[in-house]
Amino acid sequence: MKTAGGSDAAKRQAGERAAEAVEDGFVVGLGTGSTTAYAIEAIGRAVDDGLDVRGIPTSFQSRQLALEVGIPLTDLDAVDGVDLAIDGADQVVDDADTATDGALIKGGGAAHAREKLVDAAADRFVVVADPSKLTDRLDRSVPVEVLPDAHTVVADRVRELGGEPTLRDAERKDGPVVTDNGNLVLDCAFGPIGDPDDLATRLSRIPGVVEHGLFVGLADATYVGTDDGVEVRT
Ligand code: 5RP
Repeated sequence: MKTAGGSDAAKRQAGERAAEAVEDGFVVGLGTGSTTAYAIEAIGRAVDDGLDVRGIPTSFQSRQLALEVGIPLTDLDAVDGVDLAIDGADQVVDDADTATDGALIKGGGAAHAREKLVDAAADRFVVVADPSKLTDRLDRSVPVEVLPDAHTVVADRVRELGGEPTLRDAERKDGPVVTDNGNLVLDCAFGPIGDPDDLATRLSRIPGVVEHGLFVGLADATYVGTDDGVEVRT
């Protein structure tokens, strides 16, 4: 499981605190990544102690972990709604004075299409992060999941928008990264992103784009773990 950046203790603090927000009877979106893994493990322990929850995983990885720790699973089309989603992020805008506060870049694990679906469906979406993820302005590459046939034409359109696309792991001997949905990922460097909402709209309009990793206006709170506690940003 990816653990790049941030301490494991901080990730654990954030994940375990978020798991405390899960109530009896909840349907819970189970995000992807090393921080959310701590939440999934904590929910699994609560299930052992009698908590009645159903989880909706956002990736093969989170599904495997949820099965391992004994969380009963369900699907989006089998429930009336999702009470809470807990998910990680690669970058989070932490600047209460700007309209972009709480905007995210996700998709470091190539799971952002299903993550966005589940996180957006939730009544409450809580981001779990360590301090290394916080920023004044998003400036990491934006992961863009594309239909395999579309990767070159989408790359051209991304360049027209001022981005520099790289097919994820194109140089790997066994081929580029393939998502759980059978698609490819372009990591698109735009430099500092002044207007994430506008870029999100432009990326979504490109034919062949399945989903991108800009999450704007979706998060309700960010739980920022430190080595010895958690700060909740809303
Ligand atoms: C996967 C994601 C992850 O939530 C994101 O990469 C953060 O992962 P981690 O908690 O391991 O740092 O978006 O697609």
